[in-house]
Amino acid sequence: MATPQTTVRDIALEQPASIRVFEKFGIDYCCGGRKPLAEACKEHMIELNTVLKAIEEAAGTGEHPCNWTAEPLETFCSHIVATHHAYIRAELPRLKMLAQKVVSRHGNTCLELGQIQQLIQLLGPDLLQHLDKEEMVLFPYITNLERNLASCGPRPLGCFGAVRNPIRMMIAEHDAAGKTMAEIRWLSRGFSTPEWACPTYRGFYHALAEFEKDLHQHVHLENNILFPRAIELDESSA
Ligand SMILES: [Fe+2]
Ligand SMILES: [Fe+2]
Repeated sequence: MATPQTTVRDIALEQPASIRVFEKFGIDYCCGGRKPLAEACKEHMIELNTVLKAIEEAAGTGEHPCNWTAEPLETFCSHIVATHHAYIRAELPRLKMLAQKVVSRHGNTCLELGQIQQLIQLLGPDLLQHLDKEEMVLFPYITNLERNLASCGPRPLGCFGAVRNPIRMMIAEHDAAGKTMAEIRWLSRGFSTPEWACPTYRGFYHALAEFEKDLHQHVHLENNILFPRAIELDESSA
């Protein structure tokens, strides 16, 4: 049960339905989720009891997202690739196109739009490379490890020593992407458009907010569930 002392990350892990609540209040439950709920609420100037009540209500809505702590790792990795990786690949070109349109129309009056465009241009190639590394190296290793151990076969060959090593690199890359999105959030004043904003401007900020939300869900699944499970499997069989 969620208490003021439970970390945000642990609540998200134990009650996946709480993720919607954290998203609603803008509380980071992935990279910055290792702090007690009370502290996170204080930082965001949100009433603790309001959040606790919302978490309790979310648990009773009947919406129970898949519990990835128990599914086979192969199914889990395939889910991440088919949903979050596919979303990033489809959405990045769209974000770039929207940024270009909005900057060309409003960049002279809203200087932050140019800065946001630059951050997206920097983030894009790094994120795409990150997805390739997971899909071509890390995820195949993790799924082979699970499969081979289940059939008492040999450990798969990895070019990186213990699985902790590439995972450490992936977590550092998640942190970097999270920081860039936090900077975009700050520059855009929480993705809020001016009253006079045209539909493209509004669509751009909405797309950015959705992109950040998906990134948080994606990083939560990897940092908090997939990677600890892979490390445990790797070390238990060493
Ligand atoms: Fe990923
Ligand atoms: Fe990742």
